[in-house]
Amino acid sequence: MINTEIFKLKQTDADYSDKIAKAAEVIKSGGLVVFPTETVYGLGADATNPEAARKIFAAKGRPSDNPLIIHISSPEEAEGYAYTGDVYYQLAETFMPGPLTVIMDSKDTVPLATRGGLETVAVRCPENKIAHDLILAAGKPVAAPSANLSGTPSATSAQHVIDDMMGRVDVIIDGGDSEFGIESTIVKIDADATVTLLRPGKITVDELSSVCGSVKIADAVTNKLREGERALSPGMKYRHYAPTAPLVLLDGEVDAAISYIKKQGKQRAAIIAYEDEVEIISRALGNSDCYAFGKRNDEIAQARILFALLRKIDKKNYDIIYAPLPSLRGVGLALYNRMIRAAAHNVVKL
Ligand code: TXA
Ligand code: MG
Repeated sequence: MINTEIFKLKQTDADYSDKIAKAAEVIKSGGLVVFPTETVYGLGADATNPEAARKIFAAKGRPSDNPLIIHISSPEEAEGYAYTGDVYYQLAETFMPGPLTVIMDSKDTVPLATRGGLETVAVRCPENKIAHDLILAAGKPVAAPSANLSGTPSATSAQHVIDDMMGRVDVIIDGGDSEFGIESTIVKIDADATVTLLRPGKITVDELSSVCGSVKIADAVTNKLREGERALSPGMKYRHYAPTAPLVLLDGEVDAAISYIKKQGKQRAAIIAYEDEVEIISRALGNSDCYAFGKRNDEIAQARILFALLRKIDKKNYDIIYAPLPSLRGVGLALYNRMIRAAAHNVVKL
């Protein structure tokens, strides 16, 4: 057990710079620091120190062939670690700092332990001020996966981090709730400049295409990997967070969802419902275990609370969980990608 220190931190605090400097020292000396980003909390360590990277895998309980994203404080810093190019800088100009991760061929400066033994490295320049200042003060790239135990939803609040990481890390920086709530958009740039989306996030396919032309969408973004198929990203092959109770995604309008749930009989069901539909559903089903999930067309609001909602519902031992199937459009694709995995692809067409 490590004696974990918690720093509650706001930019306006008088000791802001001192706390950042202290956390940066921990990183420089090979320790683990959880820090906020605009997407989800990250579990950080010195990306250039293989021992420190190994500590991340141990703290998360993560398989060591699942590579880490390296976080930098400016897009140009990627030069030290990856073979960049025009497409990288086109993307960086529009989306960095921000919730975009770019995978490129790696230079030898990134230890194999950090990149899970791959030839490539994932680079991200976060916008969150605390994240940015910490990386800058550490003076090196910070390797960081999401700060959850392997198999639980990503942490979007300091409480989630404390639930999962207390005693496993040196410092937890509490910077409040995550702004976006879902992990970054990940793209891979190939040697021939093809851009492939590996994980959808806040930056949408349309936004990417407007900068770098056509974007391929990896099959695993929306579909199950077929038996024996090689994942483009190691993270795609691991079992992702799934709630203890089965999650069923309902594809249809609210009335059809109500009749379907009614027909299923007397299970203890949790129902994740769009805010504007909670009342109709609870009234029709006499079910008070209805959880509001943002308005139907407000994917940004839904993304912000998805992981918190799943953590909360999972603690209550339901027999089954129902949720609406997100759309494939815009930020909907990111919700679809996370929810379809949590549901083990269990979708009912109404
Ligand atoms: O928003 C985010 O990206 C957060 C914050 C902390 O920055 N980080 C995050 O890291 O979500 P993680 O490790 O939980 O997810 C990164 C994913 C994993 O599925 C991993 O397999 C994939 O990115 N990945 C990392 N490096 C890769 C590489 N070189 N090639 C292919 N996939 C890679
Ligand atoms: Mg993760």
